[in-house]
Amino acid sequence: MMPQMRSQIVGCGSYLPERILTNADLARQLDTSDEWIAARTGIRQRHIAADGELTSDLATRAAERALAKAGVAAAELDLIIVGTTTPDDTFPATATRVQAKLGCRSGAAFDIQAVCSGFVFALAIADNFIRAGQARTALVIGAETYSRILDWTDRGTCVLFGDGAGALVLRAEGGGSGENAAPVGNRSRGILSTHLHSDGRHRDILYVDGGPSATQTVGHLRMSGKEVFRHAVASLVSVAEEAVRANELTLADLDWVVPHQANIRILDSVGRKLGLPAERVIATVDRHANTSAASIPLALDAACDDGRLKAGDLVLMEAIGGGLTWGAALARW
Ligand code: ACO
Repeated sequence: MMPQMRSQIVGCGSYLPERILTNADLARQLDTSDEWIAARTGIRQRHIAADGELTSDLATRAAERALAKAGVAAAELDLIIVGTTTPDDTFPATATRVQAKLGCRSGAAFDIQAVCSGFVFALAIADNFIRAGQARTALVIGAETYSRILDWTDRGTCVLFGDGAGALVLRAEGGGSGENAAPVGNRSRGILSTHLHSDGRHRDILYVDGGPSATQTVGHLRMSGKEVFRHAVASLVSVAEEAVRANELTLADLDWVVPHQANIRILDSVGRKLGLPAERVIATVDRHANTSAASIPLALDAACDDGRLKAGDLVLMEAIGGGLTWGAALARW
């Protein structure tokens, strides 16, 4: 039997809009304070897209950086998936706009909507395309302009989010035989497994009160913070355990956990319950706030740039978002 294809992570890139909005800036326009926001969330600042700067622009900048680091030309791509909840338009998909901006005409490009889990869902889909032999070189992007769907008068939500984008380039490896065969098992590099979940009964704790079919408006984000917090901790703990167990590994084997960056208290609580030292959990929420589907690739790129994340490291990515949706991807970098 031919050994199965495996997705190798060959490049990582990210982009943050130039404009930084600090907690102090917010305190000038809302009844809030740096102390409240930092103590409850760990957030100190967020980046905000410029007028006319679209999700596809952020995504394209992140993609260009990831492709450059990977040494892969846009023309080689045969799959582009963008995880986003803030697409440029109702249709077409932001991914097709990114494809055009990259000057790429080959393969398929589409969006996946799983809110803050969008990047993990996109990664799982791309990995399955590669494993099935239907794609060889894939670009997986998380990109958001949440600033456009926030109610800037609601201090309970608008302080939590920011704009940004991150991207990974995946390449198929394996499928050969003899000396060309890719090593399989949990020591080999690439994406080891992905684990996705949804439970639509929890729609009302995190949603946008608009949409093309329901209201013909874009709407604003609405959230029951405490309930989301409770679900987030429970789901992130259980899916982390599921991912390591599926690979006959233990939590102690993890070099890095790169969780969706919603709130430092969620990250700390998950880390404590999993028994992980805080140094092994990558946190960028202080600088980026919650960038939804973009938060994991933004954090991955930050950890690559500062030298923490190295080839061969075992990395758990995990996220939860509206839907509810949640999931994890375990990879050897
Ligand atoms: N500044 C000052 N006071 C505020 C602010 C603010 N920005 N926001 C809310 N408050 C006030 C409330 O009005 C309330 O005042 P009251 O007691 O007079 O009524 C008080 O602070 C407490 O409000 P709570 O909502 O109970 O505060 P809580 O401790 O639950 O913290 C928070 C709120 C930070 C949203 C928290 O629930 C949380 O982090 N939840 C997780 C949600 C999350 O991260 N969502 C991200 C999207 S989902 C995802 O990415 C998975």
